[in-house]
Amino acid sequence: MNWGLIGCGVIGERRINSLPDGVKLVSCFDPNTERAQKISQLTGAEILNSQEEVLNPKKISAVIIAAINSELASITKKAVERGIHVIVEKPAARHFAELEPLLGSKSKIKIGFNHRFHPAYLDLIKEIKSNPDDPIMFIRAQYGNGARLGFDKEWRSNVQLSGGGELLDQGVHVIDLASVFLPDLEVVNAYSKTHYWDMNVDDNTWATLSDQKSGATFTFHVSSSEWKNEFRFEVYTRKRKYQWLGLGRSYGPEKLLIYKMKPEMGPPDFEERSYPSEDLSWKDENTNLKNAIEKNEVLFGDLSDAIRCLKIVNKIYEKSSEAQKGLKHPAWFVPNV
Ligand SMILES: NC(=O)c1ccc[n+]([C@@H]2O[C@H](COP(=O)([O-])OP(=O)(O)OC[C@H]3O[C@@H](n4cnc5c(N)ncnc54)[C@H](O)[C@@H]3O)[C@@H](O)[C@H]2O)c1
Repeated sequence: MNWGLIGCGVIGERRINSLPDGVKLVSCFDPNTERAQKISQLTGAEILNSQEEVLNPKKISAVIIAAINSELASITKKAVERGIHVIVEKPAARHFAELEPLLGSKSKIKIGFNHRFHPAYLDLIKEIKSNPDDPIMFIRAQYGNGARLGFDKEWRSNVQLSGGGELLDQGVHVIDLASVFLPDLEVVNAYSKTHYWDMNVDDNTWATLSDQKSGATFTFHVSSSEWKNEFRFEVYTRKRKYQWLGLGRSYGPEKLLIYKMKPEMGPPDFEERSYPSEDLSWKDENTNLKNAIEKNEVLFGDLSDAIRCLKIVNKIYEKSSEAQKGLKHPAWFVPNV
């Protein structure tokens, strides 16, 4: 199966280093030619001069889209119009309105929600499913990084190019992970703020949401002034507490801690699961798209999931700006429709 790549930056390279068996990268494009050259050296892919040249249905059946956020939805649209399948990096667009016209496309559209493919998360899903008598009370998540010098001059800090700040960058991951368990989340309250970086998008966001069906609560904080990278995703049920800590590498070893309450209460029983340091989530996610194309496997993280997350993101920004009436609050992208 021949695939193409549009956007040869950090994540484009990570994706092509995780291609499934039987997939070959045949073409790539990036306006930054040095980056395209690096991908070509790694894979032998032909460097082409435009997005359109890559999106040739005679040459590729699927395309990896890992460009900057402002390009993601428009490249996806061009690909599906040509009958090409897509894996597009989260957040897949700057705003949900950019994605809604793509609903009903014949092409498969996999959203790059690679966190869904982390083994601790897959174990967590199994645990929750195998204990239907133990419903979720609340989920609490924390995701943050320390960014880098010059971060506030990069595309992520420009609202036209990124669509928003930390909420749209790392926030969509935790919103997506929680939505798998709590699919009817409504925003109760939210606060986005730019505390540290010299930019007009948020570098920190806090939010509380409530699942309309189950009544469960979801609360999170995401930050690009976390200083020491951190990821934790905690699910509290009536009888258990599950803590997924770490994503490997700078986020620390990936673990799932399970605390089980006894009928008489007191200190809970405890189990710790550790996972290999190699991050296979990218490969497993790419394989999900390949299997969806070849065997009609269900996509785990599709267009409707991205739209759901982006609607929540938009609501969080709206609520946050309402809460800061008259004060300067972070900017976010809303299309003229
Ligand atoms: N799943 C994850 O955990 C994860 C992590 C980081 C980033 N991402 C997403 O991946 C995407 C890329 O992020 P990154 O960290 O690789 O950024 P990056 O800046 O390293 O790479 C972006 C690339 O897009 C290229 N580009 C700019 N305009 C383009 C155009 N018109 N057509 C084609 N390419 C263009 C840039 O030259 C650059 O090489 C973003 O959407 C980001 O949200 C996902």
